[in-house]
Amino acid sequence: MANIQWFPGHMQKTKREITENLKLVNIVYVVVDARLPYSSFNPMLFDVIKNKPVLVLFNKAKLADENETKKWTKYYNDKGYYTLDVDAITGYNMNKIVGVTKEILAPVIEKNKARGININLRAMIIGIPNVGKSTIINKIVKKKATNVGDKPGVTKSLQWVKISNDIDLLDTPGVLWPKFDDEKIGMSLALSGAIKDDILPIDDVCIYGFEFLSKYYSRAFYERYKFSEYIDFNQAYYDIAKLRGCIKNNEIDYEKVNRLFLHDLRNELLGRITFDRYDELVSI
Ligand code: G4P
Repeated sequence: MANIQWFPGHMQKTKREITENLKLVNIVYVVVDARLPYSSFNPMLFDVIKNKPVLVLFNKAKLADENETKKWTKYYNDKGYYTLDVDAITGYNMNKIVGVTKEILAPVIEKNKARGININLRAMIIGIPNVGKSTIINKIVKKKATNVGDKPGVTKSLQWVKISNDIDLLDTPGVLWPKFDDEKIGMSLALSGAIKDDILPIDDVCIYGFEFLSKYYSRAFYERYKFSEYIDFNQAYYDIAKLRGCIKNNEIDYEKVNRLFLHDLRNELLGRITFDRYDELVSI
């Protein structure tokens, strides 16, 4: 199987930027893709975000398998992080972000009140590409906040947006690369669509996807492509090609099968799927 490694390592620069912005905020929202809550979280963050409350937003929750989401929720809770399932497209739980933030920051709110300080809470949002950071920001922003220049002590180039009367969010998300230290992580990212398909070893990714589905979601997989059983990937290519008209002059159009399989997989046509398996990735 190919070793997938797509991103350049500008880790130190990202780390520095995130660390600098951390000083300005009371809370960090880390966005993960609920279908890959492990692979879409760069473990570097465990070191970087210290002494700040963290709310892990499981975005795209409506695409993920709820049973697995529960396990991953516990995984992050056990690390001392708060969690919330959201879906920026359907709007699911998006209106809870502000309330949960205020609950988490109740001690800060109390302290400010006791000191007679009337300042907004501040949050930043970070995550790997494609987890939905921009979609979330667009969904929760009330109106453009005034220029940061109005806030003493805040670097001029940073822009803040209001997500409620009393919470401001740094409007440029912190982007960091995922960390590929396991083949499964690369495959979860690839299957989810987090990485552009044209730079992927797409046959390997789809074969991995077939095997994965036959292991964890066989019913939906068989039903969709009318298998009575799964024998191997050659059979899967052939059956899907036959069913979906991807055979020309007796030849399977593998590219077309790959495309339609990935489309089905990413658009809930094979049901709600979580690519990261807790029991496989976390030693118990
Ligand atoms: P980013 O800022 O973290 O890089 O992510 P962005 O908001 O650009 O979202 C990446 C893709 O994920 C977008 O699809 C977006 O519509 C989709 N997305 C974001 N949040 C959700 C969600 O809660 N549920 C679902 N189902 N999809 C979500 P796109 O623009 O169509 O890009 P692509 O899919 O063509 O790559």
